[in-house]
Order: sequence, then structure tokens, then C-alpha cells
Amino acid sequence: MCGIVGYIGSAPHAYDVLLDDLHRLEYRGYDSAGIALVRDNGALVRVRAVGKVAALEEKLTKRAQVYAKLGIAHTRWATHGAPSVRNAHPHTAGAITLVHNGIIENFAQLREEVQKEGRMLRSDTDTEVIAHLIDMAYAQLHDLADAVRAVLPRLRGAYALLVIAKGDPKTLVAVRVASPLVMGVAADALFFASDAVAIVAHTHRVIYPLDGEIVVAKRTEGRVSYTITTEKGALRKHTPRVLKWDHTQAQKEGYAHFMLKEIMEQPHAVTDAMRGRLDSDNATARLGGLAPVEERLRTIKRIIIVSCGTSYHAGLIGAQLLQEYSGIVAEAVYASEFRYSNYLLDKETAVLAISQSGETADTLAAVREAKNKGVLTLGIVNAVGSSIAREVDAGVYNHAGPEISVASTKAFTSQLIVLVLIVLLLGRQRTMSVAMGKRIIRHLCAIPRLIETVCQHHKEIRAIARRYKRYDNFLYVGRLHNFPIALEGALKIKEIAYVHAEGYPFGEMKHGPIALVEPSLPTVVIAPRDSVYEKNLSGIQEIRARRGKVIAITTHDAVDIVKHAHDAIIVPKTLPVLMPLITVIPLQLLAYEVGVAHGVDVDKPRNLAKSVTVE
Ligand code: F6R
Repeated sequence: MCGIVGYIGSAPHAYDVLLDDLHRLEYRGYDSAGIALVRDNGALVRVRAVGKVAALEEKLTKRAQVYAKLGIAHTRWATHGAPSVRNAHPHTAGAITLVHNGIIENFAQLREEVQKEGRMLRSDTDTEVIAHLIDMAYAQLHDLADAVRAVLPRLRGAYALLVIAKGDPKTLVAVRVASPLVMGVAADALFFASDAVAIVAHTHRVIYPLDGEIVVAKRTEGRVSYTITTEKGALRKHTPRVLKWDHTQAQKEGYAHFMLKEIMEQPHAVTDAMRGRLDSDNATARLGGLAPVEERLRTIKRIIIVSCGTSYHAGLIGAQLLQEYSGIVAEAVYASEFRYSNYLLDKETAVLAISQSGETADTLAAVREAKNKGVLTLGIVNAVGSSIAREVDAGVYNHAGPEISVASTKAFTSQLIVLVLIVLLLGRQRTMSVAMGKRIIRHLCAIPRLIETVCQHHKEIRAIARRYKRYDNFLYVGRLHNFPIALEGALKIKEIAYVHAEGYPFGEMKHGPIALVEPSLPTVVIAPRDSVYEKNLSGIQEIRARRGKVIAITTHDAVDIVKHAHDAIIVPKTLPVLMPLITVIPLQLLAYEVGVAHGVDVDKPRNLAKSVTVE
């Protein structure tokens, strides 16, 4: 995830402050870094480097130490364009230099527009176009804040921007919409960052600007001041809050673990995964990464999804949805099995790899095997520029931001969103009606809010986790789209809490697992009210008849399930195809809380690695 930092102060420390702050943001994950400073004489110094902040420092030390009282810097986690110096921030256009965290949805259209104005774009990013737009406005208005204000209505998407101008060593303009931004307020300096971790090293007094608010920071006669206004210019007053966090807490934004932070980030992560990709008018999805193969996709009759672990569970749901809504024959296969099996592949088959890291050895090998056999390869990958992203013929990024905790949470839900988008695209190319496409889009838009509602049940889920923490074994069961969620819930509690758990389709109980049911084996039943409600209800009664405990993940209208379960977590309802996005959240929280209760280092469980780059 990109990180931005900025400094304006009465002392010429911008260089040191910004480099230290970039180091503090390193934990967010990044592939390149850059810094821009405006000296007191108005001259701009800009340096960018691929790789670690240390590589940037090395480039900088080759130059003389720069004394400046104003500067901005950035760590980039690529979204548009591969990691490279020319794509690294800060971006400059004419007098304007800026850093950006977020995604501009309408950047393709804006790019064309500035190119028509005769502007040369030197990067593949969505950010550079903002610099050009602001520079064009600045040339007319001669005031940095006015120029930024003039451009904001043109931008669609999410952004936190820090903007400076060559020739103006006394002004920094900051603005945010749907991307994080915090300002630290000290007596003789103001600090800006995407994350309070960079701020608490300097001051604990902070202001969180609201969406659309513009901060204009000025230095006059050695004193620093700021004003905050709305986009329309109305003055806003914020009293600084005092953060009591230390450095480590700040990295986790106050959460005890990255896993919890990433669970709670899911409303945001799924929004980013669909941002700019929904085409409501045509009831379909716009996926730029698949555009080069869109015509070839029309000829595809079969899709094999290859992936591992949590990504495989997303693949299982993806395969169900593809079959239901696009008429494409689809199956999910463990990448480690695919690579050694002899799947019959032909020109009408595509292989779709799903991977958070984009580096999983088995998934990469499966992609290579498929390429070797001449079939179309596609990817759903979170890490931009990773091996799988580079090797597939076409693909879609999740845009979930880096996942730091070993257990996958926000990557999973954003993979599901991308799968639904692909299903919309392929479905509408084939059998899906406009009405169905619109219906899915409508419900998709409500998903972030519904996930937020489930996250609010955290305390209640913690209480359940504490009641069940002494059990050594669990069964997880679900049907249809919630069967892969049963597998995912079982995987999460295994890896995070070291508790043995098995996931099963609920209908399989009688064919074996029911032999295990007794008071010491709780069963987690994922059973929202849907087409298999009655079946789930009888299953629960069969467990109860054997004195088994039942924890139900269900919806408020599943009255009898709520009545018969020992514990019920009620989640909001959406279309059955989208329910996994909701039902998985309590299972992530349950595993997390049982893990914490057992004293496990949940962010780094034993024997596991975030990126499994070996077989
Ligand atoms: C589970 C988990 C793993 C990964 C698996 C695949 O929480 O994180 O099961 O899902 O190792 O990793 P990626 O998606 O990076 O290919």
C-alpha cells in the first residue's frame, strides 16, 4: 500500500524527517520510493529509486545533503504500471510536484484529455495526470491551494495528495477523499502521513482531515500555520487529538495485531477491489487487465481455477459462480495437484490462477504448465508486478493493499469481489440478463457496509471464542456457496489457534463425520436462510440429538436455526452468491479470538510463511 509523508517547518530538516518517516512506513509494503524537496530559493530537488528506502538514501547521499524546510515523500505499492523509477512518486508536471495514495478511477479519460492539451506523460501511473491537471490550473490561478481546489471535482476515486510547487518554498497543500491522511501539529512544524506511525515520532497531537477537506499549510516569517476548508472553501475547525500510541501500536493503528487490522480493513479493501470497475449502465464489469483478451474470452467454454490454501477456497466459490451465471464449465483445483496431473486442456479452456502474493511456487508452476500446453492463462493477484502477475496472459489485481499477517483475510474477500466481477463480465458476454447483472451490481455496492456491520459483532464473537477456547476439535459445515466458507473457517482456526478443525459439506455429515459428534466436538454451521434452510435445520437437529454443540452463523430470518443453536452469530443478508463475503467475517474473527486466547502469535503462526515460494 502506498505511503505518503510531508513536512513543512521552520527548521531545514525536511530531508532527515522524511527519510525517517519513510522507514517508519516500510511495514506497509512497497516496491519503490521517492522524495521531493523545495529549497528556500524555490529550487526543486527530486530523487526516486526502485527497491528499498535504503536505495533512495544511497542515491541521495551521492548528492550533497539537501537543506530544505518543505518536502514530500512516498513509498509506492504499484497499482498502475510496474515498479520502476519513472512510475515512482513524487510525480512532477511543470511547476507542480505531488505524491498520491489511492486509485483514480477515471484516469484513462483524464490522461487522454491532458494529452490532447499537448502534455507529455512520462509514467504509466494514474497519479501523473493529477500533477498535469493541477499544473494547468496553477498556470492560470497562480495559487497552489486554488489550483488544487479547481481540479478536485475532476477526480473520481480515492486519493490522499500532498502537493508542492517549485518556486514556492512556503506552501504545502494536502487533501484526501477515501484514502487515509493524518496531520501532526507541532509548535514549529506540521507533519503529514498516510498513517500515524510516521507522525507519533514527532508529535502526539494529530488532526484527521475529513473526506474532501483541503489543508493549506504555510510558513511565514519562521512560523508555521494551517487552514482547513471544504472543497467549496468553507472554513473547518479541527481541534487536534492527542494519540497515546507508541510506535508499534501506531503501525497497527491501535489494533493488537495486523490480522485484526486487516479483518477490520475489509470494507475498505473490497471497495478498492471494485472501484471504477462496475458498469451499471451495461450491467457488467470493466476490467482493464482483461481487455487485451476480451474477444478470446468469448470463445472459452471451460475454466480451471488453480490456487492454494485460502486462495483455493476463493477459487471454489468462483467456480460455482462461473457455472451458475456464465454457463462456463468451471472447476477449482489445488495448484499442487494440477501441476502433476494430466488435465485435458484445449483451445476453449482457460486456466485462472488466484494468488495473494503472486509468488506461490505451486500456483506459478501450474501457470507455467498451462502456458506450456498453449492455453490462455489468467490471474487474480494482489501483489502488483509479482511473478504470477507477470507470467499470465492477462489478469486483474485485487487492490487489497499488502497483507502483513500470515493468515489471509482481506485478500480473500477482495479475491471474491474480483471473481464476481469476472463472472459479471463473462456472464454478460453469454447468458446473464441485464436485470441479473444490475441486481448483482446493486448488491455488490452494499457489501462494504454489510461487512462493517459484521465487524461490529467483534465483542460478541470474542465472548463466544472464550466459551469455546477449551475445545480441541471443531467441525465446520456449510452447503453450496457456504461450503468453501466452512473449509476456510476450519483452515483459519487451524493455522491461527492451532486447533484441529475439519470443513465439510453439511450433507456429508451422515457419511462419516457424524460419528465424531459428542459434547466435546462443537460444530460451526454456516447456514443463512436460503434454498437449503430446511436441510440445514435438520442437520442441526441431528447434531443436537447426539449432544453436540452448535455455533450457527446465520441470518435473522432463520428463526429455527437461531432457536436450536447453542450460540448464533447473526449476519446481514444479501444475494446467496454474495453471502460468502459476509459469512466468512465472523469465522475470521472467531479464529483470531481463539488464537489470542491461546496466546498464539497470530500474525506469525508457527511453521507458516506469508509467501510460499518453495514446493
Ligand atoms: C491461509 C493462507 C494460505 C495462502 C496460500 C496461498 O490463511 O494465507 O493458505 O492462502 O499459501 O497463498 P497465495 O494466495 O499468496 O498464493
